[in-house]
Amino acid sequence: MALGLSSAKPSRGPSPLRPGASFARENPVTPMDDEVHPVIHSGRVAVITGAASGIGRAAALELAKIGLKIAIADVNEQGLGETAAEVAKIVGESNVLSVPTDVSKLDQVERLRDKVYEAWGEVGVLMNNAAIAPKGTSWEGLDNWRKVFDVNLFGVLNVQQTFVPLMLHQENPSIIINTGSKQGITNPPGNPAYNATKAAVKSLTESLAHELRETPAVNLTAHLLIPGWTYTGMTGAAEGKEKPAGAWTAQETVLYMLDKVRQGKFYILCPDNETRREVDQLRIMWSAGDIAEGRPALSRWHKDYKAIFEEYLRDGLAQLD
Ligand SMILES: NC(=O)c1ccc[n+]([C@@H]2O[C@H](COP(=O)([O-])OP(=O)(O)OC[C@H]3O[C@@H](n4cnc5c(N)ncnc54)[C@H](O)[C@@H]3O)[C@@H](O)[C@H]2O)c1
Repeated sequence: MALGLSSAKPSRGPSPLRPGASFARENPVTPMDDEVHPVIHSGRVAVITGAASGIGRAAALELAKIGLKIAIADVNEQGLGETAAEVAKIVGESNVLSVPTDVSKLDQVERLRDKVYEAWGEVGVLMNNAAIAPKGTSWEGLDNWRKVFDVNLFGVLNVQQTFVPLMLHQENPSIIINTGSKQGITNPPGNPAYNATKAAVKSLTESLAHELRETPAVNLTAHLLIPGWTYTGMTGAAEGKEKPAGAWTAQETVLYMLDKVRQGKFYILCPDNETRREVDQLRIMWSAGDIAEGRPALSRWHKDYKAIFEEYLRDGLAQLD
């Protein structure tokens, strides 16, 4: 492969998605069998942060439909109450625990854990999902950077470090799903603080998965949810506004996630109506190629490389179609 390290002219390596390559195509979503999965199963317990809206709320509803007991946490108390009411209609009030929680505050996360274990004595599914995404730049708004890190990184860590030690010793298998983002992998311009937190969540979840795998007699696995474009409050959803055609609903993202968890996948890379899986794969390979092939940072958006990237994408997709 031409690495283009010393070339003055922008260049690129080959588009890597060959037909038949093991990563080129993934199984489409398969119908869910509610009876067989030991964790996504009636009677188990799910804890979901950021459940007042969007993906967290949809997860609460979908897991309730399967018959799990649902503990929900969020800073938005009104939204949390609405989710609790909807979930209660499905599983009954005694199977819903609604705990106003700021995940960036360790004592509040510990209170959440205590309430869940007092009520139900176990956790099957832990969805570490709360996040914020205020815009900013790399050289301004230090307070904003701290806030995003407090919620998106330390919030995830607070939950992970509070719950995992107890989940490790449960007899029944259980899972933790941390929510990352494609922005934490391909790092698009526009929201550097958010991207940096999501890159950190990818890294810490990979480490967690490895550590759990290497620890004897542990029945807990970690998964990284990487949503596609999902129509939620974070992406501009509002009462009376129509979902853009390119976005998935939060329910679609959650159903895809549950299907991949059932298949035992670590990386749950969700498509949407605008970006097919192969496009994501090529974008991710291109991003890694910035380092491996010595291109400038974020070359996908660099004026000298934009056209080359588009050509790489066209070539890669043409090999598949
Ligand atoms: N919507 C997308 O297209 C998209 C894409 C990639 C990743 N994600 C990720 O998916 C997850 C869910 O986001 P969403 O799209 O449903 O957005 P959302 O805004 O609807 O949901 C996020 C929830 O987190 C809650 N929250 C914020 N700060 C909190 C705190 N300190 N403690 C507790 N709860 C807090 C919010 O109140 C909100 O209910 C996030 O981690 C987000 O980064 C979303």
